[in-house]
Amino acid sequence: MIEDYIIVKHSPRLQGTVELVGAKNAVLVIIASLLLTDGKSFLSNVPISDDVWQMIALLRDLGAEVTFDIERHTLEVDTRFVAKYSVRAEIMKKMRASVLVMGPLLARFGRADIAMPGGCVIGARPIDYHLAGFQKMGAEIATEGEYLSAHANALHATKIILEYPSVGATENLLMAATLTSGTTRIVNVALEPEVLDLITILQKMGAHIVIEPPATLLVEGVAQLYPVEHAVMYDRLEAGSLLLAVAITGGEINLPHAPAYAMEMFLIKLVEMGHKVNIGANDIGVSLRATQSPRAVSFKTAPYPGFPTDLQAPMLAAQCIAEGTSVIYETVYENRLVHISELQRMGAQIKVEYNKATVMGVETLYGSSVIATDIRASCALVLAGLAAKGTTRMSGVHHLARGYEQLPKKLQQLGARIYYKKGIFAADFKSKEQFSRDSRKSA
Ligand code: EPZ
Repeated sequence: MIEDYIIVKHSPRLQGTVELVGAKNAVLVIIASLLLTDGKSFLSNVPISDDVWQMIALLRDLGAEVTFDIERHTLEVDTRFVAKYSVRAEIMKKMRASVLVMGPLLARFGRADIAMPGGCVIGARPIDYHLAGFQKMGAEIATEGEYLSAHANALHATKIILEYPSVGATENLLMAATLTSGTTRIVNVALEPEVLDLITILQKMGAHIVIEPPATLLVEGVAQLYPVEHAVMYDRLEAGSLLLAVAITGGEINLPHAPAYAMEMFLIKLVEMGHKVNIGANDIGVSLRATQSPRAVSFKTAPYPGFPTDLQAPMLAAQCIAEGTSVIYETVYENRLVHISELQRMGAQIKVEYNKATVMGVETLYGSSVIATDIRASCALVLAGLAAKGTTRMSGVHHLARGYEQLPKKLQQLGARIYYKKGIFAADFKSKEQFSRDSRKSA
């Protein structure tokens, strides 16, 4: 099998300034939401990542005309000729977020045919909350194996109580409710910053949405929604990943556009580690000067404003060489500690008990041959490689490209010794043990 891989060598203290891009977890649902309108919309601050290309391919498959100006990071989406409501299985399989077209298609056509998005390494990731909500709104859902077809002559307003504040279920049901006449109440919603960005663009389209404390959305359905212009919010997860790359190498960084307002729990933990963090005016912009003797911190992932599960893996990597012991609970996904076995291969001392990881800080990590299994695990392993002695070779690099725009290049610009390598036969990879021994020798 041929696959690209990344080489990461022990790197000096990273330092510099980085321009962030738009948030992956906002832009994907925002592109899907354009199906609710019948015209030409314009998005700016659109990140160039594989998942964005995948969502563009999906909309084109449905009949939308999409122009992606990658120089300007802008997207023009014309939905006037969207006439399909079926998503091909091969598209669904490539990206879970494809399920987010279900709400808009049901609202627009009264019909949505999709394949089950399937799970991934971090969890089964079912869509039962989505489907239960659509059924409550009057949709009939027929399943045949992995395929499901939802249809409704007319969705009706109702009260939906989410069993868990699921980001995707909140987004899907909210989008369906915007064109459903009457008042729909969705209780126990997710209010992640990316969900709020979706609410902002829906309101720009003409949707009537009110957030009722503590976590209820009141949606007054309207007859039509209109094309819009919107700048996608900056990516708090890219910001957090870059801050951790600098923290783990003891450097300093300035992120002028970082949405500090959306990262408070994460930033508090960086300060607890001993890093110096400054926030810009109006809570926009973050700069960090790393301490040379970071203290280990403990945390639990949780829905916003709790510690973001998407920064758990890179934050755990930073605990591996911090002073003391860090106890980390992953409460959002049932299996999002898979990166730990790869970090242990690099010399990390970590004990895992179900969803609890106890990380005992060590003096140093050692380069090894590791495999990335999801977007954020790939980031964690790159960060560990920057701090490790010797050389780390990471396969599974497609995960990095799915969730980040040019992360290796941005890290290089900060001084990282990281190199993207074109395809190699996986058989050429030395045995992991052999590679690890070699790396220790060259440490
Ligand atoms: C979104 O996924 C993000 N993806 C994820 O980011 C993020 O980790 C997650 O929200 C939580 O913040 C995008 O926005 C594209 P959920 P989503 O529904 O919507 C369970 C990344 O690395 N659940 O909030 O799929 C589910 O299994 C990615 O950028 C059900 O049981 O997340 C999970 O355990 C990874 N039934 C938990 O809820 C359902 O119907 C949270 O899932 C839906 C979800």
